[in-house]
Amino acid sequence: MVIVSDLLDHAARFLCMYGIENPKHDAELLLSHLLGCSRLALYLNRRVAVAKNVAYQFFQWLRRRATREPLQYILGEVEFFGVRLKVDSRVLIPRSETEMLVEWLIGKGVPSLVNKRRKNEMNLCILDLGTGSGAIAIPLAKYFPFSSIIAVDQSSDALAVAQENAALNCVSHVKFLQSDWFVSLHGYGFNRFDIIVANPPYLTRKEFEGAQDEIKKYEPERALIAVDNGLRDIRYILNEAPLFLEEDGFVVLEVGMGHAAILRREYGKVFRKVEVFQDLLKCDRFFVAHC
Ligand SMILES: C[S@@+](CC[C@H](N)C(=O)[O-])C[C@H]1O[C@@H](n2cnc3c(N)ncnc32)[C@H](O)[C@@H]1O
Repeated sequence: MVIVSDLLDHAARFLCMYGIENPKHDAELLLSHLLGCSRLALYLNRRVAVAKNVAYQFFQWLRRRATREPLQYILGEVEFFGVRLKVDSRVLIPRSETEMLVEWLIGKGVPSLVNKRRKNEMNLCILDLGTGSGAIAIPLAKYFPFSSIIAVDQSSDALAVAQENAALNCVSHVKFLQSDWFVSLHGYGFNRFDIIVANPPYLTRKEFEGAQDEIKKYEPERALIAVDNGLRDIRYILNEAPLFLEEDGFVVLEVGMGHAAILRREYGKVFRKVEVFQDLLKCDRFFVAHC
């Protein structure tokens, strides 16, 4: 018979041997998830015996974590902007920066558009490019239940996960489409969009090589890396966006380190107005271009 505290001590030592940064935290998170309780409850019940099958599954998870597999893939889910999303190695793990992008859209982007145009939120037409797990499209769909949202991704694997997440969150008004950015939208009969949002790949190969093993070994490379100093997909989206935007519509993108200043120079005169806003670390992380 093994009790909670012994199991956790053993697990933390094991993860530490493999150089995992926060072994105690990770062990507690995995065990609490398996037992369906909070981390606090583990402390309150530290002398309670753990069933053999639970301990077995826990060790399987610890072995995966020791190879640097991200916790979110092991648990198979993540909470993003109050929405639970299934994630696995087919999709990028949604990041907290991207939550700021969704927050900006809900708190500022959409209200300013609605005020300016006196347009009803109900009629909003939103395009989410590179939807991945559906991290941007699904919270937006929950927040704007009468909007019409199209979410595209080049990867059919990612789209399968996004569709599953839409169903899990009872979201039925997002249309998913496999497309190389805008390509499949040409002649598809879609009207123009009020908002185009994307968190496209923007890391350089060098930045990717310098990232943690959790990212390099497990997350899909095509979701992360872009050539031309990380700018190829961003530029492509900004070049095409005016063709697909309503008058007064805007495109908002999450961008990489140093990109915002370059984009300001390149697109400042192309669009009616461009603006940049920062992430929690005060990096210029988001670029908005208004038609
Ligand atoms: C950084 S991930 C963003 C995923 C999700 N939107 C998020 O914020 O968590 C970029 C996504 O773009 C997709 N992607 C990459 N190249 C693409 C292309 N040419 N056309 C459409 N989607 C593409 C990838 O498959 C990936 O899902």
